[in-house]
Amino acid sequence: MDLKQINLYVDDRPADKVFRVHREVFTDPAIFELELTHIFERTWNFLGLESQIPNANDFVTSTIGRTPVMLSRGAKGGLGAFLNACRHKGATVCRMSQGNAKYHVCPYHGWAYDSSGKNVDIKDRKSGCYAEAFDRDNHDLIPIARVASYKGMVFGSLSADVLPLEEFLGDTKFFIDIVMDQGPKGMEFVPGHASYTFRGNWKLQMDNGQDGYHLTSTHSSFMDLQARRRVGEGHVEARQFDWKQRAKMRNGMFTFPYGHSVLWLDQVEPTKRPFYPVVDEVRARIGDLRTEWALKARNYQFFPNMQFNDSVTTMLRVFRPIAVDLTEMNTYCLAPVGERPDLRAWRLRQFEDFFNPSGMATPDDTVTYEDCQRGFASGEIEWLQGYERGLEALAPVPNEVAREIGITPLENIIGTIEMQQEVAMEAPYREWARLMQAGISAKKAYP
Ligand code: FES
Ligand SMILES: [Fe+2]
Repeated sequence: MDLKQINLYVDDRPADKVFRVHREVFTDPAIFELELTHIFERTWNFLGLESQIPNANDFVTSTIGRTPVMLSRGAKGGLGAFLNACRHKGATVCRMSQGNAKYHVCPYHGWAYDSSGKNVDIKDRKSGCYAEAFDRDNHDLIPIARVASYKGMVFGSLSADVLPLEEFLGDTKFFIDIVMDQGPKGMEFVPGHASYTFRGNWKLQMDNGQDGYHLTSTHSSFMDLQARRRVGEGHVEARQFDWKQRAKMRNGMFTFPYGHSVLWLDQVEPTKRPFYPVVDEVRARIGDLRTEWALKARNYQFFPNMQFNDSVTTMLRVFRPIAVDLTEMNTYCLAPVGERPDLRAWRLRQFEDFFNPSGMATPDDTVTYEDCQRGFASGEIEWLQGYERGLEALAPVPNEVAREIGITPLENIIGTIEMQQEVAMEAPYREWARLMQAGISAKKAYP
């Protein structure tokens, strides 16, 4: 394969109804470097929730690709995002993931910055015999090129050559709304989050977040356990869902420009959602249609590396590429701001049941990613298969469900749960190929 024609690593031939992904996009360190440059450093990345930084001088740190970033609310309340790297020798200025600080003092030589990134002190400057040229230089933290938020979700970009955030999100905004509007004062992360690594490529999580097909095989022990709980055995506080009922429901998917996708499943046991006891309040605020949709199960993929799972619980995850075969996962439980304590407890029991390294499903997935990465080591496998699962179910756009909610996706499918299509996984790879090829050809990333 030729890196100059990197788009061909995604074998996308709609006329022939073929879609395959080359194994080397999961294993080649050179491709991984190009992903950082041409994808992560050229598009919007999720940085945090506004509700994590409600007050002056609140901050949260994260990473865009390989770049450490600090999102901070300045003393006057404005949002800013900077490279979390000291202007002196580049040390990480803020080592904490979240907090409140008027000033950030670099741990290395003590240069200090305020919450707007302004350099306010260079330690022992007077005795330093600096030349005038140094004094003329700007020593502030470097702001990143773009910061914008939608419904309390803050995104940043290292490149100024991006679309306006709302255009980038497009019709996924409907789906963001029905998560972020579940609380009258918006949504927040339940304090604390899980962070762990797996020895696999980041795109394994990108695929898995849209993968319903693996449920009955990878998570069979979890499903057996659920069946036993239904007859009253074991830990029943999680009010878990009845997977047999789920299997009868109508489900489907949408894909959108710029690599996003959404899977949905018609309502099943809505009374088991922790916001159900306050659903009248939600309905009064966002209306019937949106409330009915908030009660359906949905999984979202936002290209490149953020996902929502609003089905068995409401979770957000960000998966950070560290190396071609190493990824850091960060998972958060999303909840209405000011949620009633009994509903919060119910939500947490559902969250911890399935997700996180301590949950009963996540470890199955994580082990599987590492198995896949092991399999990729074999040069005998060139192309990964099966992304065409559900291809023949693609229907003209917009289908009845898209019309009902007033969106125009790129693709749509309505099907049975047994179909468990994989076509939704194609959209992120198409965007991958588009951005990678644009980068290699020195073209603009966006129109
Ligand atoms: S690296 Fe930050 S003060 Fe030296
Ligand atoms: Fe899974």
